[in-house]
Amino acid sequence: MSLPPFDASFVPKYTESPNAAWQYGDKVGSTAAAQEWVEGEKHGWTSIDTAAVEPSKLYPLMISGIVPRPVAFVSSISETGIENLAPFSFFNMVSFDPPAIMVSCTNKPRVKDTCHNIKTTGGFTVNIISEPFMENANVTAVNTPESVSEWDVSGLTRAESIAVKAPRVKESAFSMECELLEAHDIKSPTTGVSINVLIIGLVKHIHVRNDVLNERGVVDPVKFRPIARLGDISYARLGDMFRLPRFSWDAEKEKMQEGVERNR
Ligand SMILES: Cc1cc2nc3c(=O)[nH]c(=O)nc-3n(C[C@H](O)[C@H](O)[C@H](O)COP(=O)(O)O)c2cc1C
Repeated sequence: MSLPPFDASFVPKYTESPNAAWQYGDKVGSTAAAQEWVEGEKHGWTSIDTAAVEPSKLYPLMISGIVPRPVAFVSSISETGIENLAPFSFFNMVSFDPPAIMVSCTNKPRVKDTCHNIKTTGGFTVNIISEPFMENANVTAVNTPESVSEWDVSGLTRAESIAVKAPRVKESAFSMECELLEAHDIKSPTTGVSINVLIIGLVKHIHVRNDVLNERGVVDPVKFRPIARLGDISYARLGDMFRLPRFSWDAEKEKMQEGVERNR
């Protein structure tokens, strides 16, 4: 398949939200795009009883439906000092107080070195992947023999960590040094066998590159250029962005009540 080249000049920008004229209680469908979305219902639904389907069929469906996913680029180190680097998209922040993240490692068809290392040494780093080193990061999902370092295959650079032994990825503009808080087995409800390990890490140190910070001291997505995982081997970059306010019932209750009345 021939594809256009990656557009390195693309700059995500802020636009209005998808339906900027939306009022409390308005139904979906007042814009042409939303109308087309609603009309898609005429094709009906496929409902899947997960207990009746092979897990191998659920995998492609779930990873394509639960999108976009951030990717944790995890660096860990074994008790004997063997370094490991691998991407994990079953990943998210779970708390900021205490600062904590989760990563989930599948035990099938083999227990991941990352999982083994984290459980035995208790420390790891999570590095966020930006567009300029996506290929370097992707290659680390390869299962190299012990004699070959994923670091060397990737061409990425180790940077020393402060609180954990595992290095962080120097090319990453946002890295977290983590300490194992909990490792929880996710077992098959039928066999009781552990299929995944949910790792919760306490974030001990955050390293953020100054050039991706804005004047408020938070990460500017336009400068950061994070990638996201979609289904199969598809990934995404940031497209255009929009902002939406958070509403307060107390401040808006009359108008919200009007919307509710229209739907009664
Ligand atoms: C973008 C991406 C995301 C991935 N996400 C996960 C994941 O969330 N959980 C998992 O077990 N494996 C995931 N994998 C596969 C692991 O990265 C791969 O099995 C890797 O070899 C594990 O390395 P290790 O055994 O060295 O720890 C992912 C692979 C890629 C390319």
